[in-house]
Amino acid sequence: MGAARIVAFTGAGISAESGIPAFRGPAGFWRNYPPEKLASPQALPSDPRLVWEWYDWRCQVIHKAEPNPGHRALAEIERRARDQFALVTQNVDGLHDRAGSYRIVKLHGDIWQVRCVVCGTEQRNEQVPLEPLPPRCSCGGLLRPAVVWFGKTLPAGAWEQAVEAAQRAEVFLVIGTSALVYPAAGLVQMARHSGARVAIVNPDPTPADELADWILRGQAGEILPRLL
Ligand code: OAD
Repeated sequence: MGAARIVAFTGAGISAESGIPAFRGPAGFWRNYPPEKLASPQALPSDPRLVWEWYDWRCQVIHKAEPNPGHRALAEIERRARDQFALVTQNVDGLHDRAGSYRIVKLHGDIWQVRCVVCGTEQRNEQVPLEPLPPRCSCGGLLRPAVVWFGKTLPAGAWEQAVEAAQRAEVFLVIGTSALVYPAAGLVQMARHSGARVAIVNPDPTPADELADWILRGQAGEILPRLL
């Protein structure tokens, strides 16, 4: 990851054209679902079935979705640029993997992984729909999705890799993120302060725009293939 000259930093907007709602904005998840009731450490013990119904529904939406030309363009850039390219994503949907991206730093975890809250065992679970809800580990403990919840720190290894990539980048592409959620959004400042040129791909303004050398207004699925 470390020596990559081009780093792409993606958010939910890159999956919008695949039919997966983003978090903020009029059609965003958080418009209808309060995050503290569904995506916080307190939510699971207080109503595990509700939490899992929400994640199971999201898994069903994601399962039906396909990677779009934006995801595929990033996979193609990696194929051509090899270790000169790094991908850091806030997304948990796995569409970058399915598009063929290979080395992916997942800052917010992976919705297709589950972890036992008792014994800590982590495993892949791609069953859709998931039954019974809430799922349990073989030790009897409650399983949770292996994603980052509100108020919790990011996976240490992933964060270190992302910081290193941001600090070494020559070009830092900020794609489909509102750049509001920290610490992830702080990567844009880090890249900029370390000398990277910053390019934003987003149909709407974001707070990161003031750090940008280039602002490409539009949909990731239309703009990214043109960068090839
Ligand atoms: P947001 O929902 O906050 O922002 C999505 C961004 O994508 C917005 O700026 C949109 O303008 C933009 N967008 C929409 N359609 C687009 C398209 N076709 N092409 C390019 N951009 C498009 O999503 P994130 O920034 O990913 O955290 O949110 C960050 C974190 O907040 C998520 O990882 C999640 C959430 O709470 C956790 O779950 C820990």
